[in-house]
Amino acid sequence: MRYRPPDYRDMPTEEFERKARHNNYMRQIYDFPRTIIPHPSFEKFEEFWKNRCSRSNKVHVEIGCGSGGYLIQLAQNFPNDCFAGFELRYKRLVLAAKKIEKFDCANVLLLKDKGEYLGDYFGENSIDRIHVNFPDPWSKKAQKKHRLLNHDFFQKISVLLRPEGQFLFKTDHQEYFQWVLDLLKNFPNFQTIEATTHLQQSSYYETNIQTEFEKMFQFKSNPNIGYLKIQIYK
Ligand SMILES: C[S@@+](CC[C@H](N)C(=O)[O-])C[C@H]1O[C@@H](n2cnc3c(N)ncnc32)[C@H](O)[C@@H]1O
Repeated sequence: MRYRPPDYRDMPTEEFERKARHNNYMRQIYDFPRTIIPHPSFEKFEEFWKNRCSRSNKVHVEIGCGSGGYLIQLAQNFPNDCFAGFELRYKRLVLAAKKIEKFDCANVLLLKDKGEYLGDYFGENSIDRIHVNFPDPWSKKAQKKHRLLNHDFFQKISVLLRPEGQFLFKTDHQEYFQWVLDLLKNFPNFQTIEATTHLQQSSYYETNIQTEFEKMFQFKSNPNIGYLKIQIYK
């Protein structure tokens, strides 16, 4: 069945208070009504979106935006574009929303939902760029079915992307990177624009926007990062 972010406030007050004592961010996601939709539905999303975004604006979506560093940098670089970030974790949503409001990025909206449900909010030919940075790799054989990037995902985004829309992906997990390249062989309408298994040593690094995880990796073990940009032809 469709995953729906629970509204814990519908619980008896004591139960909510008990849960929120362990994770105060559960309470805080309601403090940013201009920036976070904690329990999104198409209707709530549409109401937010129509006030920020017209058909002439470019639309970017980041799935698993974490605490928002990448999305905010993009939004500052392209102030006339519109940005939606999907994220599941309370703390990361709150940290992202704080930064978004601090930097007055009115063109960024956060949804607490799984990126897999992108199509519940966006219609056919409505997104210009989809960004996925360092998704959970689900490395073990039995876990691979949980990977965000699978055949279904690329089928879905083939519909949602506008003609010549792009998908951008970074990971430090080289096996996941190769898995995505292999999947894409089934999608001849996607053409590779940029690809490398060694982002830091490539010319693409000059325009790279680092994510929070990327900064942490760089500081810890500086692994090779796989980077891919593909474009759809319709
Ligand atoms: C490894 S972190 C990377 C965060 C960020 N992209 C970065 O590079 O700093 C993966 C993020 O994806 C989020 N996430 C995991 N599965 C998701 C899903 N199905 N939909 C949306 N976000 C998801 C996690 O909560 C986590 O914040």
